[in-house]
Amino acid sequence: MENLTINIDKISGAVSRDTVFLHENDCKRNILSLENKTGAGNDFMGWLNLPSSTTEELLTDIESTSDKLSQKLDIMIVIGIGGSYLGAKSVIEALSGSFDFLKKKKHPQVLFAGQNIGEDYLVELLEVLKDKSFGITVISKSGTTTEPALAFRVLKHALEEKYGKAEAKNRIVAITDKAKGALKQLSDNEGYKTYIIPDDVGGRYSVLTPVGLVPIAVAGFDIRQLIAGAKQMETATGSDVPFENNPASVYAAARNALYKQGKKIEILSNFNPKLQYFAEWWKQLFGESEGKSGKGIFPASTNFTTDLHSMGQYIQDGPRHLFETIISVKSTDNELLIPEDEANLDKLNYLSGKKIDYVNKMAELGTTLAHVDGGVPVIKIEIPKLDEFYLGQLIYFFEKACPISAYMLNINPFDQEGVEAYKSNMFALLEKPGFEEATKLIKTKI
Ligand code: PA5
Repeated sequence: MENLTINIDKISGAVSRDTVFLHENDCKRNILSLENKTGAGNDFMGWLNLPSSTTEELLTDIESTSDKLSQKLDIMIVIGIGGSYLGAKSVIEALSGSFDFLKKKKHPQVLFAGQNIGEDYLVELLEVLKDKSFGITVISKSGTTTEPALAFRVLKHALEEKYGKAEAKNRIVAITDKAKGALKQLSDNEGYKTYIIPDDVGGRYSVLTPVGLVPIAVAGFDIRQLIAGAKQMETATGSDVPFENNPASVYAAARNALYKQGKKIEILSNFNPKLQYFAEWWKQLFGESEGKSGKGIFPASTNFTTDLHSMGQYIQDGPRHLFETIISVKSTDNELLIPEDEANLDKLNYLSGKKIDYVNKMAELGTTLAHVDGGVPVIKIEIPKLDEFYLGQLIYFFEKACPISAYMLNINPFDQEGVEAYKSNMFALLEKPGFEEATKLIKTKI
């Protein structure tokens, strides 16, 4: 099987190849700090060897749980937020047919909850579940996050009301810490089927643990291929691989060289609408890992050609503080040829007989050249096709590049203290017990 490729030729207007290669030693040192667990956040390096250490036992267990649930469920609600949500959502969206939600499928439809606090969202979800057979996969490493805890309380209640407590238990899977947190305690008390999130794997690095694997398997996708692709990338990004052949190092070096040139915003673009949520996963990975101490590239995303008709103007002609990384998918799964039209009023007959994807690829190339001409450097990451194997590669590639990159900025990529600020304010405003002083203080600010 091939590896994903990275091409940095189109950043040369902003930084030369030699400048990128100046980061070679930094990259090497940073990979070694990851491998030797000597870098900042070294308690959270478990993701590094996950692909090669995932056991046959775990995969078989997840497949068997998913088979059992598939037989009785129309809908599996996956409850989680941040790293306990985005990985599964991005892979399922990337692999599903665009209109699968309208089809009767062999596997349950996976829907998500607990990723927002939308009252209407939950009411509308409960409405849909009334005449469906459903189950719940609840995911929270800490087991105490407010959004998923709220959603789980509401949906568990609905599940128990519909099926009774005993059957509800058979329809709940909990994925959480091995020892601590309210979800662990509840799972033990109730006897839910439980999977463990390893201690040394943080939320946004957890898609290749049961956090991602369970929902992806329930949705009917091949988790073995996902792991196999990631495993190939684990080998391809090791410290023994020369800099120029290591896509994670080249990407980390290129984006840091661009950052030093004032390119503070990276836009992850795709020309395949199925990758929209992959960009959301990527934004969390890089945003939560790198945005600290007043530093870090702001991760943004666009879906082309759709957003060329909205964001295209800004990218082409706005402030020149941007660079772009395009994920390019070489082949489509299907073929659709453009038909000949006798009247040719739309003047498209010059394209008749060509694949729709040929037009898309020319749009991609045309956009790249236009953006480069407009002063936006473009990195291209290419995968042969959009399937489990290459998604596994993409996931591991970005997971590896992220800390190599963050270490270059002297940032610990494995903590997220900034996320606590909104939580303490929210708890103070909600008058949560224990927050009395904070409540008094915050009321003076309103
Ligand atoms: O990457 C992270 O650590 C976060 O995004 C968490 O995944 C997110 O806050 C959810 O946390 P938990 O799984 O503890 O509910």
